[in-house]
Amino acid sequence: MHLTDKFGRRISDLRISITDRCNYKCVYCRSGNDGPQFSEMDIAEYLRIARIFVELGITKVRLTGGEPLLRKGLVEMVRELGGMRTLEGRPLDIAITTNGHLLAELAQPLADAGLTRVTVSMDAVDPEHFARITRVPNGYERVLAGIRAAQRAGLHPVKVNCVLLRGFNDDQIIPFGVFAREEGAIVRFIEFMPLEEDRVWTPEIVITLDEIVRRMAAFMPLREVEHSRSETARRYRFEDGVGEIGIIAPVSQPFCGHCSRIRVTSDGKIRTCLFSVREHDLAALMLNGASDEEMIAFIQRAVDQKEERHHIGEAGFIPASRTMVHIGG
Ligand code: 5AD
Repeated sequence: MHLTDKFGRRISDLRISITDRCNYKCVYCRSGNDGPQFSEMDIAEYLRIARIFVELGITKVRLTGGEPLLRKGLVEMVRELGGMRTLEGRPLDIAITTNGHLLAELAQPLADAGLTRVTVSMDAVDPEHFARITRVPNGYERVLAGIRAAQRAGLHPVKVNCVLLRGFNDDQIIPFGVFAREEGAIVRFIEFMPLEEDRVWTPEIVITLDEIVRRMAAFMPLREVEHSRSETARRYRFEDGVGEIGIIAPVSQPFCGHCSRIRVTSDGKIRTCLFSVREHDLAALMLNGASDEEMIAFIQRAVDQKEERHHIGEAGFIPASRTMVHIGG
């Protein structure tokens, strides 16, 4: 049985936030103060949820946070996920989104445990800019070492996520182009969405896909290459064939019609959209001793209520019930 929503979208991609703690305070995500934290479940509970979703046709699991590398038991968790099989009998695609701060030490153990891929968030390619954005000193060298360790561990291709904010790090577009070519990592620029704690989002602060392509051309023109329907990123290569970048454009070119995602928060609530204003409390059901069958029925009812699309930039936009650090991206 495959999970499908009422708009005919097949749900194949599960994202589990395993903590909402984070060791960075990126200006576009968190406020300077430590906000409320939600509870974490046991690793075994996330694994039970993952197994049930896999029985419902999930083929890809991404672990997120907060910062997932802060979570004890992560390597074991990846190993357990590695033992699961999709309905078609294949291994799961297992990915992690991390800020990279602890990746240099963990890349090899995670790869050995069965991790398929890693995405590292990095919003500047020079140490000073980096410290200003993350509000943590000396992170840049560690994250760079983490990216390189991931490549050595065979977690190819390593993707690097960069959120551009006008007037803050948009001078990093071309340096990131150079970085993608030199490091052999796929740099993916993500349009800034209104999901931050400090409410700094305005349409003007967003650097759109069109603008990135145009500004990168001052360095070297990009040629779009084909991407699969389910892929959120538009893919580009530099015209000399060296280096790949991606652009994820949820604001200027929404891809909700192809959304295949479902999310579980660290405290075990299902979110059917980043911009959901309500959640479905799977943890409460589980704590009450629900059977797998009851959990499956609950998940199906949640999927039935998956939002058709987000409303970023529209007059009636209602902010999501949680910010990004609690959802995990
Ligand atoms: N808009 C777009 N991307 C964001 N991220 C965090 N907050 C936002 C936002 N408001 C990115 C992070 C990370 C991924 C999970 O999402 O940088 O790479």
